[in-house]
Amino acid sequence: MPDFWTTLKNRFGAGAPVSAGRVEPNEAWVRMASRGVVRRFTDEAVPADLVDTLCALSLSSPTKSDLQQRDILIVEDQAKRARINELLSDQEWIPTAPVFVVFLGNNRRHRQVHEWRGKPFANDHLDAFFNATVDAAIALSAFCTAAEAAGLGCCPVSVLRDHAAEVSELLGLPDHVFPIAGLGVGWPRQPGWTSLRLPLTHTVHRDTFKEDGLREAVDAYDARRHGVAPYRSQRDVEQWGEHPAYGWSEDKARQYAVPQRTDWGAFVKRKGFKLQ
Ligand SMILES: Cc1cc2nc3c(=O)[nH]c(=O)nc-3n(C[C@H](O)[C@H](O)[C@H](O)COP(=O)(O)O)c2cc1C
Repeated sequence: MPDFWTTLKNRFGAGAPVSAGRVEPNEAWVRMASRGVVRRFTDEAVPADLVDTLCALSLSSPTKSDLQQRDILIVEDQAKRARINELLSDQEWIPTAPVFVVFLGNNRRHRQVHEWRGKPFANDHLDAFFNATVDAAIALSAFCTAAEAAGLGCCPVSVLRDHAAEVSELLGLPDHVFPIAGLGVGWPRQPGWTSLRLPLTHTVHRDTFKEDGLREAVDAYDARRHGVAPYRSQRDVEQWGEHPAYGWSEDKARQYAVPQRTDWGAFVKRKGFKLQ
């Protein structure tokens, strides 16, 4: 197992930090630096009280203005789980995850509080949707960190939103409550792969946003990634052909050359949000 600083260097390349002032790397940092998604699980069950504890840890994370506009829905019902598996059947690992939870943005409670307190909800615009989304995303991340600290593995599932209307119906989500992502959780069959990230020179800015040399940095990142872990397959070869140096930027450009979730905005509006 490489040490903490080597792990950072392997992930971010040259320019990764090599010290942290008077703070020494600790176990939590080592885990965070080396983490990766897990999509292969053992058959061992994850106890319900462990999942409940992870929910509590997740919801201990920061929340905008203390508004607590996120909830977690644990899918225990076998029929509901089977339907979700079916909807997401092009991700064949999902049925193998012993636990499946859904992270929800919940702006409903906030509106209910206004009603109960006899105050107008004077912020019925994009911010309402955005704040709940951010809160739910923070909770998702905190859940993963807590789960990984317990030795579990997990993988978020945004393809759930490809079926937002049916999932919403299945899980009984009322107006102003919406899924941001699912999360498959279980005991890893093998540790998650520590994937390489874009260099910190171009993802951490000081005082002013800069993108000088970005294209060259992305090219170098593509090459570095290709050297360590080349993509096993290329997307949509029929349309775009085989690329001789298929890297991250080619993969992402191909991925989003295909329309995805074009009905998401309409779904969110049907949930009662104004997106102006
Ligand atoms: C919000 C979110 C949604 C994701 N949705 C999916 C998904 O639908 N299916 C999937 O297999 N992986 C999904 N992932 C996992 C990402 O593909 C994975 O995190 C990414 O490839 C980076 O890998 P790493 O987390 O191991 O560094 C999602 C991750 C996030 C954060």
